[in-house]
Amino acid sequence: MTSVKTVGVIGAGIMGSGIAQVVAQAGYAVVVREAEQRFVDKARQAIDGRLQRAVEKGRMTVEEKVTLLDRIMWTITLEELRGADLIIEAISEDLPLKQDLFRTLDRLCPPSTIFVSNTSSISIMALASVTGRADRFAGLHFFNPVPLMKLVEVVRSIRTSAETFRTVSDFATSLGKEPVAAKDHCGFIVNRLLVPYLLDGIRALEAGVASAADIDKAMRLGCNHPMGPLELADFVGLDTTYAIANIMFEEYREARYAPPPLLKTMVIAGYHGRKSGRGFYDYSGSTPHATDLGL
Ligand code: 3HC
Repeated sequence: MTSVKTVGVIGAGIMGSGIAQVVAQAGYAVVVREAEQRFVDKARQAIDGRLQRAVEKGRMTVEEKVTLLDRIMWTITLEELRGADLIIEAISEDLPLKQDLFRTLDRLCPPSTIFVSNTSSISIMALASVTGRADRFAGLHFFNPVPLMKLVEVVRSIRTSAETFRTVSDFATSLGKEPVAAKDHCGFIVNRLLVPYLLDGIRALEAGVASAADIDKAMRLGCNHPMGPLELADFVGLDTTYAIANIMFEEYREARYAPPPLLKTMVIAGYHGRKSGRGFYDYSGSTPHATDLGL
């Protein structure tokens, strides 16, 4: 049984920085790699800000915060990940980019290192196939915001070994998360159900059924969802939602995964949701208000 002590995280965007935080919080040594120093600085600040808030709320002492931050080593080179027992990839949803990264890691790391991808829609087998360790390769899909969301999907490809699957599931549990086992089907469990729902929310807006605010309010108050579909699409990122929908549509050729034209137009316009300051809502003020999309 592989013992995990040091964890590598590649990519420190919204997902990667959240993953690095929860892994360090669970007591592991973490090495986080970003492509450029400015992304390292941004991720560091994001984690620091979240932990500072926990200190202010009395959920953590200053000493605990310092100890936790000391467990995280930041780097812009892949070589520093050589000593990791488990490497979590959390870069953008781009197959060739991810495959290139895993090819390099496979040359760099000892055969015992387990590789996992936080992909939400790319085939685990397609990623594992470029390495010589498909048996030590799995999916570990976290949810945004990672520090708050309990679920992790643990994905087993047809070549993931039972031992790797167990190690990765146990690792997810050690982070205080609830793992569910999913087969390597595009979108796994959550996105298979969530993506058509988000796209339907956008289609309802496109069809003029109701305003964005009322579509969201309806699902928040009518179904007790914490966010309506348009708010949630903004939260996930419209570019990410569009990329996932395209990958799922490509895979299944089912209309329910086809991204609506409005989503495509918004992505082209640079309306990427919360992270870009504008999506279905404008986040530039103190409270978000619906973006005028001329509908
Ligand atoms: N990161 C970290 N902490 C956050 C946060 C974030 N992005 N957003 C809010 N919080 C914290 C706040 O700081 C606050 O902490 P406090 O106790 O210190 O004050 C606490 O969460 C509650 O915050 P709020 O009162 O502002 O917000 P809510 O109660 O509305 O909760 C939420 C925020 C948890 C984000 C909630 O709205 C929610 O659950 N939304 C749905 C999230 C969801 O569905 N995520 C899954 C997306 S799908 C996905 O990730 C898969 C991918 O493949 C597409």
